Amino acid sequence: MAKHPTFVHLTDIHVGNPEILDTNLYSDTSTTLTAILADIKSIVPKPDFIVASGDLVNRGEISDYEELQRIFHEADLGIPVLFGLGNHDVRENFYSSILGRDTGLQKPYDHDQVINGIHVIVLDSSIPNRIGGGFEDGQAEWLKAKLGENDLPKLLVMHHGPALDEDDVEGQWETFACADTIVLRDLLKDRNVIGIVSGHIHFDRVSNWYGIPLVVGIGQHAATDVLHLPENLRMVSGSGFALCKLRPSGLTISFVPQPAERRELHVIPLAAIAELERQRLAAAAE
Ligand SMILES: [Fe+2]
Repeated sequence: MAKHPTFVHLTDIHVGNPEILDTNLYSDTSTTLTAILADIKSIVPKPDFIVASGDLVNRGEISDYEELQRIFHEADLGIPVLFGLGNHDVRENFYSSILGRDTGLQKPYDHDQVINGIHVIVLDSSIPNRIGGGFEDGQAEWLKAKLGENDLPKLLVMHHGPALDEDDVEGQWETFACADTIVLRDLLKDRNVIGIVSGHIHFDRVSNWYGIPLVVGIGQHAATDVLHLPENLRMVSGSGFALCKLRPSGLTISFVPQPAERRELHVIPLAAIAELERQRLAAAAE
């Protein structure tokens, strides 16, 4: 049986140059990323790819991106990594340090790739000097063209998830802009979109958005205490990533906490459970 496509969703990595004091960095994100990449490296079989949905670094400086690159390079994962950009990213510094690009440095970083049968579309939802996201000129047209290119299952990666309440203009700093969300909704309709993976709000959240799974990851920096919303943005420790598998029935996403502070209680080889069940079924049939 062919292996189902699998991938990892990272978001809100927020690493920074450890040589520079950053009073807006609340956890050791370099250590967290290193540990997460080690976790990913231990997965058998290897995932087909990794997507990272923005806020790759905390301050947007070139030396922050160099730290990101160093950690990924040392992890030596051997699988494609598709980066998206968020409001903490600075396009020109990302382009020059990560991609070695020296033209079009202000343009959104929209890109796509087909990997093991999944058409991955990474939309740059960031808008320079804004917290919330949205389309810039030409991006909706680009997305429409990409969506129409083939009939493959499509994964959309974007830092800012669509606005769940399309009239919540006050809350647009947390999301893709309301008006643009409506445009996006219409563009994605009947386009075999298996899911949207996002970040920005720093807590694991799963929504059914017009029939499309919309999955936000907690990220790797600091976690939003959802018990304090909507009055306060209380940040607590907490980070993780998501393992994703595409079956013919649809997308499955499993959340993995990191640091893995849970104490091991018991380990049973899964093959032993399957064998026990096989024996019970055989006995019942006799
Ligand atoms: Fe973030």
